[in-house]
Amino acid sequence: MSKLLKSMAQIRWCMITILVLICCDIAVGRSEDGHHERKIGLVEDGLTLPTDGCLRVGGGGEGSSFKVVLFADLHFGENAWTDWGPKQDVKSVKVMSTILDVEKPDFVVYLGDVITANNLPIHNASFYWDQAISPTRARNIPWASLFGNHDDAPFEWPIDWFSSSGIPQILCPSGNYRGGDKCSFKGTTRLELMKNEIRRNSLSYTGFGPTNLWPSVSNYVLTLVSPKSDHKVPLMFMYFLDSGGGSYPEVISAIQSEWFYNKSQELNPESSVPEIVFWHIPSKAYEKVAKKAAHTRKQCVGSLFEERVAAQEAEMGMMKLLKERPTVKAVFVGHNHGLDWCCPYKKMWLCYARHTGYGGYGSWDRGARILEISDDPFSLKSWIRMENGTLHGEVDLLT
Ligand SMILES: *[C@@H]1O[C@H](CO)[C@@H](O)[C@H](O)[C@H]1NC(C)=O
Ligand SMILES: *[C@@H]1O[C@H](CO)[C@@H](O)[C@H](O)[C@H]1NC(C)=O
Ligand SMILES: *[C@@H]1O[C@H](CO)[C@@H](O)[C@H](O)[C@H]1NC(C)=O
Repeated sequence: MSKLLKSMAQIRWCMITILVLICCDIAVGRSEDGHHERKIGLVEDGLTLPTDGCLRVGGGGEGSSFKVVLFADLHFGENAWTDWGPKQDVKSVKVMSTILDVEKPDFVVYLGDVITANNLPIHNASFYWDQAISPTRARNIPWASLFGNHDDAPFEWPIDWFSSSGIPQILCPSGNYRGGDKCSFKGTTRLELMKNEIRRNSLSYTGFGPTNLWPSVSNYVLTLVSPKSDHKVPLMFMYFLDSGGGSYPEVISAIQSEWFYNKSQELNPESSVPEIVFWHIPSKAYEKVAKKAAHTRKQCVGSLFEERVAAQEAEMGMMKLLKERPTVKAVFVGHNHGLDWCCPYKKMWLCYARHTGYGGYGSWDRGARILEISDDPFSLKSWIRMENGTLHGEVDLLT
């Protein structure tokens, strides 16, 4: 490298450091235990918008690794009017509790379809959302969430209710309401769900993105900082995106892609810091990879053939951007309950999480994907931890 280039690189690095400093020391306030930090809001359009957050590796003490558990497709509130439904939710709490106690993560990601909103004959789905995050909150572990296609759908009246002589009592709120608005259960919007989560939980790192990206809401970045240099060096960026569904099409839009491009240029202009990306519905690239893997399985790990990839409706530029960024190491999605594979794609990995909840279709055993990020040297490893404690699909995401 020439001297000039070198000093330019140093300036760039300095700029990144300043950005991270802003992220860590100004926009967020340190919590009492120093392990995680809380966001403080910026007011925009009368709404309190959380800023992008910052997470520290080894904030607790010696360790210089950071472990993330991914909970996907919990589907709380499914068939809420039967005995079966609430029993599934109890089992889902148990899966999460078991895995949290075995893995002892530093952070949890709720990868969408936290609730089955189209099964909720209530006005405020935050009630079920709250149950889903309760095992993590009870253990004082910070988390972030994003949306799946089932999270903001309006209630769908089950057809079999109309074949019997009476429609179940619980349909309308208590009291004398019969018909009208009170009985229509329009569903809780993405924005309301997020606002309720963020307002009531200081451990939540969820953001609800710039308003120009709406109706997609869960678009934000978290920065993981290294314990080196007093936590001023970014170790990895974690991007969260809303892949739609429910109240609008299942896509990552062109404007979201542009937002990702802008953000990555701003935070990581030199492409020097690794990046990982989370959203709910697999992109079309997952279909391609799975087809290819049917012939040459050797590089993939995990369950590949239990079902067909159910991809987004269209590709609007996001994958092209990711392919072009050498720093993007992996994408993580949920949505397909029978799949938990990781396969290489271009210079990155495409990965599924693992169906965690007892709600939702399929009876495949439940589990969760785990990520372990280490500092110095940087490493990014992953595996699936099952409810019964077994482990499979170990993969080094830097190879
Ligand atoms: C919905 O529930 C949340 C959490 O319990 C609460 O903060 C919020 O005010 C409720 N919203 C409405 C419209 O009832
Ligand atoms: C991206 O940045 C460009 C140039 O600064 C700006 O005009 C555009 O509005 C930004 N787009 C988004 C989605 O933030
Ligand atoms: C645990 O679950 C795995 C994966 O579902 C299964 O293959 C294995 O037999 C189970 N092990 C025990 C001890 O139950």
